[in-house]
Amino acid sequence: MRGKNIRVILFAGKGGVGKTSIAAATAISSARIGYKTLVMSLDAAHSLSDIFDLNKGLMDKNKGEPVEVEQNLWIQEIDVQEEIQRNWKEVYQYIETLFNISGIDEVLAEELAIMPGMEEVSSLLYINRYVNEKVFDVVILDCAPTGESLRFISIPTTLEWYMKKLFKVERLFTKYARPVVQRIYSVPLPDDSYFESLRYLFERLQGVEDLLTNPRITSARLVINPEKIVIKETQRAFMYFCLYGLCVDAIIINRILPEGISDVHFDRWKATQSRHIDLVKEYFSPVPLFKVGLFGDEIVGGDSLAQLSKMLYDNLDPTTRFSTENPYKYMKRGGQYILNMRLPFITKEDVELSKSDNELLVRIGGFKRNVLLPRKVAHYAPLGAKLDGQNLVVTFGGEYDEEGNQEGEGRS
Ligand SMILES: Nc1ncnc2c1ncn2[C@@H]1O[C@H](COP(=O)(O)OP(=O)(O)O)[C@@H](O)[C@H]1O
Ligand SMILES: [Mg+2]
Repeated sequence: MRGKNIRVILFAGKGGVGKTSIAAATAISSARIGYKTLVMSLDAAHSLSDIFDLNKGLMDKNKGEPVEVEQNLWIQEIDVQEEIQRNWKEVYQYIETLFNISGIDEVLAEELAIMPGMEEVSSLLYINRYVNEKVFDVVILDCAPTGESLRFISIPTTLEWYMKKLFKVERLFTKYARPVVQRIYSVPLPDDSYFESLRYLFERLQGVEDLLTNPRITSARLVINPEKIVIKETQRAFMYFCLYGLCVDAIIINRILPEGISDVHFDRWKATQSRHIDLVKEYFSPVPLFKVGLFGDEIVGGDSLAQLSKMLYDNLDPTTRFSTENPYKYMKRGGQYILNMRLPFITKEDVELSKSDNELLVRIGGFKRNVLLPRKVAHYAPLGAKLDGQNLVVTFGGEYDEEGNQEGEGRS
């Protein structure tokens, strides 16, 4: 048995590529090896229970809690309504009140008060709990389609930032502003229970970022199909996973036409697929590639999932860490610190760097990330950044003068 070293494996990719099937297949072989395994669906359009061929009544009865499917195997579909009752009551009520007084229809206000991110944060709460309480050996996450799963991975970073920077300020603001604001406007300010509930949520999220960015614990596996648009979208996802410090340990190419099919109609498809498979190798190397052929039938139930897993991992333990190379590396050379970031697919024009205090801000397109620098590194100014293959190498070493300006820096 795996013992106390929990393993978290996250499956992400574009809609319809086979994430849920592959997550379920991975879970079934993990459970059959003997690991106590949970597979959790983060996609609001849950299909896990359908793939395991379970009746919906059983899922509904469990109100979004784990349901045992076979020995060592549980599935969980997050139910946002239940999560609101469990975790978000005060926050939800406050937002609902705001919508209500702004004259929005009551039913619509209830719907609107379900904020984007509540599901993701709820699942992070579960993950943290399962890890701390050592409930499972393996937790497998069936993510929502790419866009939303990117939001999911960015949440711990964003929350930590919010916690540090905004939380205290906002609370102070309401403390002093309440008497004034309440006299002038009719908009209610959140009361203490709102903040108390948020504080409690944050508390329970402590450590989740470290967990997700530890490649010994968490791996992300990207599922793709050998099609141009899918590969493009996944390229971007890969870049952001790297940026957020999540280790991608496998690229899974699903739905490859089997060799045996020979037909004029499919020959063109096979040629196209094989071209794209070569492209995948160029794009994602050195991350290991796994291939799965197109099934002869729908994938439903334990037997076909086990067959899918065999096709995918052959006889390997599916919980193996296929790669543990973290996208970030710090090095010290001479008097300089070097931050090495694996950022595949970027070109120089895409990257914007800036630094304030102990944070390095990296912007790529619409995404940005605050990289909290080790104290020692933060002491120095960035001297420069250069692209070295798929690595962005940032050198820190310039001292600051008394006014906080960088010495020897050519300003224009
Ligand atoms: N290798 C495959 N061969 C045949 N059908 C597949 C394969 N992988 C997935 N499917 C089917 O494709 C559909 C979408 O798969 P699913 O796992 O739900 O994708 P996602 O979770 O990425 O949206 C399902 O009907 C599934 O049975
Ligand atoms: Mg799915």
